[in-house]
Amino acid sequence: MTNVLLIGNGAREHAIAEAIMRSTKSPRLYSFMKANNPGIASLSETIRLGRYDNPEEIVAFARENKIDFAVVGPEDPLSHGVVDALSANGIPAVGPTKSPARLETSKSFTRSLLDKYGIAGNPRFRNFKTMDGIEAFLDEIPAIVIKPDGLTGGKGVLVHGDHFQTKKEALAFCRDILTSHAGVTLEEKLDGEEFSLQCLCDGRTVVATPPVQDHKRRFAGDAGPNTGGMGSYSCADHLLPFLKAGDVAAGLEITKKVAAALLEETGQPYKGVMYGGFMTTGNGVRLIEYNARFGDPEAMNILPLLKTDFIEICEHIINGTLERIAIEFEKKATVCIYIVPKGYGLPADYHDAASSSAKIEVGDPGHARLYFASVDQKEDGLYLSASRAIGIVGIADTLDDARTIAEDGIKAVKGPVAFREDIGTDALLQKRIDHMRKIRGKQV
Ligand code: AMP
Ligand code: GLY
Repeated sequence: MTNVLLIGNGAREHAIAEAIMRSTKSPRLYSFMKANNPGIASLSETIRLGRYDNPEEIVAFARENKIDFAVVGPEDPLSHGVVDALSANGIPAVGPTKSPARLETSKSFTRSLLDKYGIAGNPRFRNFKTMDGIEAFLDEIPAIVIKPDGLTGGKGVLVHGDHFQTKKEALAFCRDILTSHAGVTLEEKLDGEEFSLQCLCDGRTVVATPPVQDHKRRFAGDAGPNTGGMGSYSCADHLLPFLKAGDVAAGLEITKKVAAALLEETGQPYKGVMYGGFMTTGNGVRLIEYNARFGDPEAMNILPLLKTDFIEICEHIINGTLERIAIEFEKKATVCIYIVPKGYGLPADYHDAASSSAKIEVGDPGHARLYFASVDQKEDGLYLSASRAIGIVGIADTLDDARTIAEDGIKAVKGPVAFREDIGTDALLQKRIDHMRKIRGKQV
């Protein structure tokens, strides 16, 4: 019998809960959530509703239930030192302590770490704590990306050409960010295609899972505001059509070096998921950012494919013995499409803002898997919130079939919802391939 504490309430954690419960080690799941996720609740022995910024409450719940180890889903509990508090009470966790979790919580920390340890992958960048030098930097590199220091839920980054056009606008944004954040990182805007590489790390050994492509923009054709992620796909050959095998190897190599650098820098082994957002460019692979957790939606692409016992993997991460286990994934394609309220990610006065509290009906999704995110299970049914609602996943031998399964699953959801129609389509994939062909100046 293994008692596992899961912290988190999103679709990512629903997928983690499912992976835990597939284990042959007779798991019992105890879930600490800030809102009641019906998918996670249905797999749990007991749930507790509470806040992620209160480590004592989480430790108390863990102690009451004689927890063997914890799995932390989102970044919030990591940034509030939940893993440190659990560890002080003898409860190990899959999830880094607060210091190495700066990999996600501070973009300036990560850029400086790569610089200090001579690790390839940074674009040209500079961290600023005041406006001093920002104008000169803008003169030096006109096309830049502005990144506030601190957690922004994937929505705080401002890109030249998309979110601002002129130097004057860039300066105004920087000024504004510095009133509410400790710092701001400015970096060169890169051109290429992004991929997510979620790596497992026990502090020393780093193992990559299959690459996934997420879609951050709200609308089809990569239009509209950035969101937490509207959907994602992965391919049966564990590569993506616009990537070369060497690109994934480069992402893994960077991550291995970063894990070693983190250990040296913080003195604490990083135990958990190092999810690198990389971009393949005309000049090789560059790091966009790290997250200290599985991706959401990307966890829903790779966890259902896991053939190895997830609890066994967690135990090896905790014990620092990850090199002793072969981690295998099914050779299948996956498409995850997020159902969101119509007003999701759009200005509050958007005419569909009311959708964020509407009731929805969920029928039979056929062969698709449903992972609940921000939905509220009330006595009279299921309600939307302002955030992403349900991740719908199709798994098949080909990407086309996986997408068809996911699209059939979407039809089961009735209510004022929206989704991106182009995730995993041939047209979108071709656009990525053509983009890279143009950048590389030769056949991909
Ligand atoms: P992040 O929160 O760092 O993942 O950034 C959000 C999005 O902004 C990324 O998914 C990219 O699309 C874009 N982005 C971030 N950094 C860069 C960069 N240096 N060059 C081009 N695009 C970027
Ligand atoms: N897929 C975006 C994220 O998990 O941050």
